[in-house]
Order: sequence, then structure tokens, then C-alpha cells
Amino acid sequence: MIVLKNIKKTYNTGTCPTTALQGIDLTIKDGEYIAIVGTSGSGKSTLLNIIGGMDRSTEGEYYFNDVAVHSLKRHDLHLFRKNNISFIFQQFALMNHYSVFENVEIPLLAKGISKKERKKIIMEQLTALGIADIAKEMPIHISGGQQQRCAIARALASDNPIILADEPTGALDKKTGLDIMGIMKEINKKGKTVVVITHDLNIANMADRIVRIEDGKVTEEA
Ligand SMILES: Nc1ncnc2c1ncn2[C@@H]1O[C@H](COP(=O)(O)OP(=O)(O)OP(=O)(O)O)[C@@H](O)[C@H]1O
Ligand SMILES: [Mg+2]
Repeated sequence: MIVLKNIKKTYNTGTCPTTALQGIDLTIKDGEYIAIVGTSGSGKSTLLNIIGGMDRSTEGEYYFNDVAVHSLKRHDLHLFRKNNISFIFQQFALMNHYSVFENVEIPLLAKGISKKERKKIIMEQLTALGIADIAKEMPIHISGGQQQRCAIARALASDNPIILADEPTGALDKKTGLDIMGIMKEINKKGKTVVVITHDLNIANMADRIVRIEDGKVTEEA
């Protein structure tokens, strides 16, 4: 279970500080499927990055089961991320000089899994996502939908319990986007906790719960 208490985030990067999150309280149960919606700049990606351990809050508490994520040291935060979180991005974030197969292999290499076992896991994932036939292709030679399937295969290969997706259909046409969201729903049914940021209400309605963020605060949960 994920428990966020009064999470605040201020960026000090520009000339003046920007407060992106102003005190978020949110609980996400294991196996839940949550959609995060809200206007541009409302703090959705900031929140997802904090949940994913890619960034830290400036204030507040973040618990994952018994772990106080907000107080983890850098190395332990890295381990928390590696063992629990998989990210899916709008622009797929594949390594363009690696084949589809090799992209899915990356998290498995990081986990020190043997070559034989890696091959088995990768081909299972590619087959489940309907892209086994393009395992040797490079990302630039395949469609956006296929690239996102590859990114999902990569996310699933590590078998982490939490899948975070920041507008995973934002770069896809409507039909392909719905296909991808169907896959996300299947993933959730198989037991993963899924958190998806989206601008599309049809997609948000596929989730168990919709969390609306405005101005860095939760304004509505349905
Ligand atoms: N790295 C950063 N440095 C400084 N300010 C940032 C940074 N990232 C985000 N912000 C600011 O924090 C606020 C929230 O941004 P965030 O990216 O979380 O919004 P969002 O809801 O994901 O928007 P979008 O729908 O456009 O993706 C914005 O005002 C943004 O400009
Ligand atoms: Mg965003």
C-alpha cells in the first residue's frame, strides 16, 4: 500500500521557486487502478515522479508498506525504485540503439538474471503483447503503438508490483491508445497496482478511481 501524507514539492530551479504540490494526501491500495487527471501544470507528473522515487518531496511523508520512502538514503531509494516501480512514458523512452528484445532486457540485466532466464521472460512478454515477430527490429522502424507495447513489455519484464504511466497514450492515435489502455487494464487484473495520468476521460473512466489534481492539491476523488 502507498500512503502519501501532506506531500509538498517546491522547485528551486528557475529564478523564482515554483510550488508544484501543496499538500497531497492520497492512499493507493495494492492492486488498485487509479487515474490521475487535471489541467496542464497542475502537478500530475511531479506527483507520479515522487511516487516512483524518481524525485523527492520537499515536505511530507511517503510510506510504501512499512518503508518510509521520504527518509530513504539515495542508494536505498534507488533499490526501492528498482525492486518496486516500473515507468511507462508518453514518448516511450526506448533506447534507440537497442532492438525491441534488448530494450526489454535492460531491467533484467539490472536485476542480474541469467541469459537463459532473460530470453524466456522477454519472449513471454513480447508474445503476450503481440510483438514477438519484431523482437529484432530497432524502435525507429516500428509504429508508435508497437513502441509503446515494447515499453510495456520492458515495464512488465521486471515484474515489479507498481506500474506508473505518464500519459501513455498521449502520442498515439485514438484506436491505438484504447488498445494500449486495454493492455493496462489486463495488467491490473493480473494483480499490478497501476497509476495512469491521462487527459482523456474515456481512459480515466477505465480506472477503479479517478483522482483530480488542481494547483497541486487533490480536489476530487471518485
Ligand atoms: N523540473 C522542474 N523545475 C521547475 N519547475 C518545474 C519542474 N517540473 C515541473 N515544474 C513546474 O511544476 C508545476 C507542475 O508541473 P507538472 O509537470 O507536475 O504538471 P503536469 O500536471 O504534469 O502538467 P502536464 O499536463 O502539462 O504534463 C508546473 O508549474 C511546472 O512548471
Ligand atoms: Mg505531466
